[in-house]
Amino acid sequence: MQIARTISDLRAARQQMRGQVGVVPTMGALHAGHLALAQAAREENDYVITTIFVNPTQFSPDEDLDAYPRDLEGDLTKLEAAGVDLVFTPTPELMYPAGFQTYVNVEFITRLLEGVHRPTHFRGVTTVVTKLFNLTQPDIAYFGQKDAQQVAVIRRMVKDLNFPLKIAVCPTVREPDGLAMSSRNVYLSASERKAATILIRALETAADAYDEGIRDGETLEQIMRQVVMTEPLGEMDYVSVVDARTLERPHPNSPMLASLAVRFGRARLIDNRLLPAHLNTREGLDSTLGV
Ligand code: PAF
Repeated sequence: MQIARTISDLRAARQQMRGQVGVVPTMGALHAGHLALAQAAREENDYVITTIFVNPTQFSPDEDLDAYPRDLEGDLTKLEAAGVDLVFTPTPELMYPAGFQTYVNVEFITRLLEGVHRPTHFRGVTTVVTKLFNLTQPDIAYFGQKDAQQVAVIRRMVKDLNFPLKIAVCPTVREPDGLAMSSRNVYLSASERKAATILIRALETAADAYDEGIRDGETLEQIMRQVVMTEPLGEMDYVSVVDARTLERPHPNSPMLASLAVRFGRARLIDNRLLPAHLNTREGLDSTLGV
């Protein structure tokens, strides 16, 4: 496995790749969810590039940039075992040199859901992802379902800006009790860790109601809200049920995205589920989420 720390090293290694290239952009502190993306990329491409970069522009000043978990040595060991060919690990100075002033901004859908609580977040994501796409020139880029709105935003950007690549989405990987894998789960205390299953319990209750025939978005949101409110350690940022393609008001006969964000102490956790439940597969996500 090659490691590129500079842009010239990355470009030189990329030029040697003759065949289909998959890229897995990450912020490191890799868990089984990231490794599932690397595995899918390994199976579907001739070459796999993973990027590890804790991107400062997607954190607001009051968020956890400095505390965000980092484990470069451990990450490299995991990526080597996953059969990744090339890892790009730039520094913030390399990605945002003095004088940097160009940002990529997707408009409407970045203001919904997460955007209400993190108004500058997606501008940072789309800017860094654009840079990573330009640098790695992938045929397919892999993202996780857990950040469903991120997928919808990046798909919108790829379409609007004519990037010649496909966005693949892999289902959320979960702990045995249903908690979605996240690098931020390390912030949870033992009692918060137990309480954090409220997210999947709320989503499952909404999925059950959907299966019983409830199609009204507000009723499904209210059902989720009632479940979250039973957990005293959790502070709800939002629950939401929207159209899975547009992230706007849902239509009874179109796939829906149920999602929520709940804070436990310093950890802010998000999770989601497509409705109906059979869409929460690689194929379902690929064909349903975003444009
Ligand atoms: O999903 C993430 O880990 C990040 O938002 C990404 C896509 C690597 C951009 O920094």
